[in-house]
Amino acid sequence: MKGGVLLKGAILTVGIYLFLKLALPLFTAPLPASLIFIYLALTVTGIVIFATLSGQSTEAFFGPISRFLSGEGQTGAMKTARLLVLVLFPLLVGWQTYSSTAPSDQPPAENRTIHPAPPGEFVGLSNPIPNTPENVMAGKGLFAAFCSPCHGNFDGKGPAARGFSPPPANFVDPGTIAQLQESYVFWRIKNGGVGLPIEGMPWKSAMPRWEVELKDEQIWKIIMGEYDGAHQKPRTWE
Ligand code: HEC
Repeated sequence: MKGGVLLKGAILTVGIYLFLKLALPLFTAPLPASLIFIYLALTVTGIVIFATLSGQSTEAFFGPISRFLSGEGQTGAMKTARLLVLVLFPLLVGWQTYSSTAPSDQPPAENRTIHPAPPGEFVGLSNPIPNTPENVMAGKGLFAAFCSPCHGNFDGKGPAARGFSPPPANFVDPGTIAQLQESYVFWRIKNGGVGLPIEGMPWKSAMPRWEVELKDEQIWKIIMGEYDGAHQKPRTWE
């Protein structure tokens, strides 16, 4: 059967790709695309070496490819397919080259210290408000009024969130308030983005400074509501 080696090789390659891409992540972490690329390159290399062991198998492997590309004696659908490949392949390579070299309109990543040290007067403060269901509810109410336009339903996806870089913090994410003590969160809410120290530059945070609008007591209640709503616990030293 002519072309059999080519077909088997293609099926094997696609099979290995699907295994790496779809089946393996069911058991372990998904593989990075660069690793999948290396495995596939090795697979193809192996298949080509196997197919070119003898003159006969080389012809069986490359024959269909060269007959397809040269267009010998082709009619109808085959002819159209060849034309499509010959037109689309250069376009694909061109597009790939363009998109990998064209300058992007995404802002460059910034090295911002996300959790700089707080000023001394905030270190070690503890929440003076008793953690009762009423106070937590009151805090969530204040959060809905003042914070949800940006921080959304504690997930950082409020209606206004998309306009800001850095984006509003997602409190459900283990990288934000779950890592912080209540005193730290208190400082961040009170002084906002403008209150960040030098390490927090380039000071493009849209986080407002709340110390004028909100009383300390309200901020402490919001903090309780925030942790409860995001299903997180403040960090403590115990
Ligand atoms: C105008 C949009 C906006 C509003 C309104 C807003 N925030 Fe923010 N907030 C941000 C942005 C942007 C950040 C991320 C940058 C930063 O850390 O300053 C942030 C960060 C924070 C952080 C720091 C989290 C961390 O991991 O360091 C806390 C805490 C916080 N906000 C609480 C609040 C609370 C509570 C309110 C309501 C009283 C509120 N925010 C209202 C935009 C907003």
